[in-house]
Amino acid sequence: MKIDLSKRTVLVTGANSGIGYAIAKQLLESNASVALHYNSKSDGVKELHKQFPNQSEIFEADFNDSDSVINLFDDILSWKDSLDVLINNAGTSIMNSVDLDDKEWINNWNTIMNINLLATGILSKKALQHFKNNNGGRIINIASRAAFRGDTPDYLAYAASKAGMVALIKSIARGFGKDGITAFSIAPGFTRTAMAQKSIDKYGEDFVVKDIALNQLTEPKDIAPIVTLICSGEFDHGTGSNIDINAGSYVR
Ligand SMILES: NC(=O)c1ccc[n+]([C@@H]2O[C@H](COP(=O)([O-])OP(=O)(O)OC[C@H]3O[C@@H](n4cnc5c(N)ncnc54)[C@H](OP(=O)(O)O)[C@@H]3O)[C@@H](O)[C@H]2O)c1
Repeated sequence: MKIDLSKRTVLVTGANSGIGYAIAKQLLESNASVALHYNSKSDGVKELHKQFPNQSEIFEADFNDSDSVINLFDDILSWKDSLDVLINNAGTSIMNSVDLDDKEWINNWNTIMNINLLATGILSKKALQHFKNNNGGRIINIASRAAFRGDTPDYLAYAASKAGMVALIKSIARGFGKDGITAFSIAPGFTRTAMAQKSIDKYGEDFVVKDIALNQLTEPKDIAPIVTLICSGEFDHGTGSNIDINAGSYVR
């Protein structure tokens, strides 16, 4: 199937590296216009913008700050009149042991929730208002296997935030379908990115590969194709669904 997204404008959050970078690159190669969001590092988004100057623009926002998230959405609508797809990919996986003192634990919990769930909620709210006035649109949340399987004790807030992202998608799909809006979550398992490198360094690649059914660790490029398909609209009747991409490590 040849997918041409030349009529679509897409926001990819966290587009500088890893999964977000791979998604943004494939969307640009499929002729979409892409708003490339970054937070602290911009080498990846600059490289994409240099390659696709007429199809992309770069936007900075710290998702630990709600005003910054609101401004991001407004800035994108100053660049393009209309947004067709919101991809909530940016996320953090701060370790947060229950052995930390209460204040530090709460602080970490709030940071994780702000970045992973509140920013996703704010952008979804803004997108839903916009989509309702512009013949619909699509929202894709990059959640995690942790939303369904749970995570290790250091990542209680991470898994809870990801489960929230999945529940948000279900409600949007149920409540806004008649407005022409569809919504999907994707739950990657362990994927080779900067975020996952911490665990690879700690436990070794062999340990991680033993956990999956396939021989190779999932790469960011393995996540991108389903996102491109969803952006095309050809998967709209799957609205509300979650797609597991975990190399057979958690079959349910
Ligand atoms: N890798 C895995 O094994 C795995 C598995 C399941 C789910 N996921 C999910 O996939 C998504 C992408 O992660 P990744 O694995 O590709 O890791 P990554 O390369 O580290 O990407 C994380 C992205 O989130 C952005 N981000 C972090 N803090 C932010 C903040 N305060 N404000 C705005 N953006 C912020 C980062 O932006 P800057 O670099 O510019 O700060 C970065 O672009 C995340 O939601 C993650 O939870 C990953």
